[in-house]
Amino acid sequence: MHRATALAAIALVSFAMSSPATPSVQPQRPLIIAHRGASGHLPEHTLAAYQLAVEQGADYIEPDLVITRDGVLIARHENEIGETTDVGIRFPERRTTRLVDGEEVTGWFAEDFTLAEIKTLRARERLAFRSQARNGEFEVPTFEEILDLVARLERQHGRRIGLYPETKHPSYFRRIGLPLEEPMLDALHGAGYRTAQDPVFIQSFEVGNLQDLRRRTGLRLIQLLDEQGAPWDFVASGDPRTYADLTTPAGLREIASYAAGIGPHKRLIVPQASDGHLGSPTSLVRDAQAIGLQVHPWTFRNEASFLHRDYAGDPLAELRQFLGLGVDGVFADFPDVAVAARDH
Ligand code: G3P
Ligand code: CA
Repeated sequence: MHRATALAAIALVSFAMSSPATPSVQPQRPLIIAHRGASGHLPEHTLAAYQLAVEQGADYIEPDLVITRDGVLIARHENEIGETTDVGIRFPERRTTRLVDGEEVTGWFAEDFTLAEIKTLRARERLAFRSQARNGEFEVPTFEEILDLVARLERQHGRRIGLYPETKHPSYFRRIGLPLEEPMLDALHGAGYRTAQDPVFIQSFEVGNLQDLRRRTGLRLIQLLDEQGAPWDFVASGDPRTYADLTTPAGLREIASYAAGIGPHKRLIVPQASDGHLGSPTSLVRDAQAIGLQVHPWTFRNEASFLHRDYAGDPLAELRQFLGLGVDGVFADFPDVAVAARDH
C-alpha cells in the first residue's frame, strides 16, 4: 500500500472511532500497558519508571523477569545485564559467554550474581538517542519491590494498577536450575493475586511454560507472538511450528485453551508490504477476539527509529490506528502518549 493510501486508511479508522453513529468496537476501554515502565522517559525497569508510568495514567506496568544466582526475581529485559546497568564497571572480571536460546551471548548475566551484588549496580539507559541524564540513580528492582510499589501506588492513586510480568528465557532458566515460574507464582499468590478477576497478565514468548502455568494458577496468561521465528521451547524440542502457525485459526484455538489473549508484534496486525509501506490490516484482531482472546500488541514508541515512516512522525496516528482496529490494549514506552491517543 502506498503512503497516501495507508494514511487514508488510518484516517478512515480514526473517523470510524469518532463517529457517534458507530458502535464501540469493544465494551471496555483498551488497556495502556507501560512497557518496561515509562521507559521512553526513564531508564527501563526501574521503580521510578514504573511510578512515572502510573502517574501518566498507565493501567498496567510491565516487568520483564529474570533471576539471580540466589533465586530472587529481578526486573531486566534479558539475563545479560551489561546493556542496562553499570555492571561492566563494577564487575569487569565476570564478563563471560553463554548459550541462551540457541545464541551465543557475551556479557554479564543475572544468574551469576547474588541479589546483594545486583543491588550494588545502578541502571543505565539502553538507547543512545534517549536521555542519559538519570543514569546511575536507580537500583535494579526485585519483583517483590515492584509488588510493594504497586500496593503503595494503588493506595495513593485510589485505583487498581495492573501487573503484566513476562517470564524471560523460561526454558533456559529451568535448565540451569533457576526456574522463574515458582517464585513468580509464590510472589503473586502471596500478594493476593490469584484469579482471572485480579489485575494480572502473565506473558511468555514460549508455549510450554504458559501451558504449565495454566494448571497452577487462575491468573490470566498471554501468549506473545513475534513477527518471525518460533517459540524457543518448540525449537528446542523439535516442534516445527512457528509463530506464524500460532496466528492461524487453528493456532489461535490452541492458544485459547490456556491463555486469555495474545501479545502480537504490531506488524502481525498492520504488516509491511513488499514496497516498504504499511499494508492493509490482517484479520488477526478479528480472528483472535472471535474466540475470546484479548489482543495486546507491542511496542508503541515515539522515535523515528521505531515508528514506521507512513505515520509521518506522528506516534498518535499509529496508536489511533490500532485502537481503531479494536485492540484490547497496547504496550507503550510512552504511556502519556498512549493515554492521550485513547482518551482524547
Ligand atoms: O512483552 C511484550 C513486549 O515487551 C515483548 O517484547 O522484547 O520488549 O519484551 P520485549
Ligand atoms: Ca516484555
